[in-house]
Amino acid sequence: VGDQDRIPLVQAINDYKQKNTARFHVPGHKGKEMDNFLSSLYPFDVTEIPGLDDLHHPEEAILEAQRLAAELFGAEETFFLVGGSTTGNLAMILAACKPSDEILVQRNVHKSVIHGFILAGAKPIYLAPMIDPVTSLPVGVPLQEVKSKLQQYPRAKAVLLSNPNYYGMSMELLPYAQLCQEAGVPLLVDEAHGAHFGFVDGLPSSAMQAGATTAVQSTHKMLPSLTMSSMLHVQGELLDRARLRQALAMVQSSSPSYLLMASLDLARSYLAHEGRRDLEHVLEMVRDLRKRIACLHIPWLKVVQKGSDYDFLDPLKITLRTNSADFHGFVLKEFLERQGIFPELADQHHVLLVLSPLTEQKELDRVVASFSKLDRSLEIKADQIRDIPSKLFIKEQFFSPGEVLNRESETIPFEESAGRVFAEMLIPYPPGVPLICHGERMDQETIDYICQLQAKGCHFQGSHDTSLRTVKVVKE
Ligand SMILES: Cc1ncc(COP(=O)(O)O)c(C=O)c1O
Repeated sequence: VGDQDRIPLVQAINDYKQKNTARFHVPGHKGKEMDNFLSSLYPFDVTEIPGLDDLHHPEEAILEAQRLAAELFGAEETFFLVGGSTTGNLAMILAACKPSDEILVQRNVHKSVIHGFILAGAKPIYLAPMIDPVTSLPVGVPLQEVKSKLQQYPRAKAVLLSNPNYYGMSMELLPYAQLCQEAGVPLLVDEAHGAHFGFVDGLPSSAMQAGATTAVQSTHKMLPSLTMSSMLHVQGELLDRARLRQALAMVQSSSPSYLLMASLDLARSYLAHEGRRDLEHVLEMVRDLRKRIACLHIPWLKVVQKGSDYDFLDPLKITLRTNSADFHGFVLKEFLERQGIFPELADQHHVLLVLSPLTEQKELDRVVASFSKLDRSLEIKADQIRDIPSKLFIKEQFFSPGEVLNRESETIPFEESAGRVFAEMLIPYPPGVPLICHGERMDQETIDYICQLQAKGCHFQGSHDTSLRTVKVVKE
């Protein structure tokens, strides 16, 4: 562990606090006690003054904290992010792509990736994901698909994959990294949900371990750091680091929060020590939890097992699948919430419980206790919504997402949008994968599918009118 004992940024902030200085610098709270729940943190909420380094030109404590993170996460270089993985995705795309550059990208990506294409003026070439037959959730892209698209688009500047998905379904990235290495293009990975990957047996290996060029991790999602604190890991020569630094300076605040950065220093140190032990313990608890839920013999409720179309299922993501028409995902979520158990999300069929190394046995006991109250005799019904055909994700692309923003748009009724080129995204949430993106032409099959989802109570993001009565299209 050695150097990993150190928490250089936390130390530097503490040292400054101990000095009892007169603060004639920002922020305006001046580190004073005030009558609110945050004020005990004010003394540590500091800024770029001597001894506290500068995120955009790190030379001291921040550089050291990032170096220790790089060492632990197996990167050559790590950048702290204070705007979540969102900023990491934007920056790596801006670094890889100039205007009109092609980039191969898995279609089921977070909206921040699409926003990255808009900012960079890049032209995404979408790769259709496989659909897990058990859950109907989009997972990874077949290796063969990446291979053939690399041949078809030899000028593509990068391959961008999102791994794992929200539900922890993930691919072994090693062959993808090898393929990209041979083609001489960087493999950029949005690993927002995988900050804990690769740390103990029983967890999938991480993108860095697999040889990816970059990995963006929402440290805050799976490890104990503050919300919005994330990391961008980099290795190899395939991405221009100077461009990456410049992009980070463009998308990140010039007053990055020291609380967020310190929380990354603490999360890294935790993972290097107790974190591994805690992870092993949670994995054991999860094995037990799965058995206990199975023993309840609720015919319409199952814990999702690993499917055949992807390589790993993150044990820290427990997806509960309900096959009851009456007690569907949203009802199950509300049932749990009434008992003080708050899941991450629900969709028609699923409720997702997100664990972390800090999850305790007594919390899992509460889940089992509440399930034991469920009615075992509910009727099992087949779902009315047909599975989304993979091809629905791949549409005729008329303009790149960035070009659309420079064109005039108009608002029309959604039902009349077949054949029109969209000036916004329609993203059913969950799982948050755009059914149509900026610059793509709408078709009747997608309209029908969206109407079905809406009738089932699915919410939509990305559009100006979330009720989807009207949509924004490019003026003809
Ligand atoms: C796959 C994926 N990438 C990126 C993000 C953005 O991460 P953040 O919230 O840390 O900005 C999310 C957020 O949920 C996500 O699910």
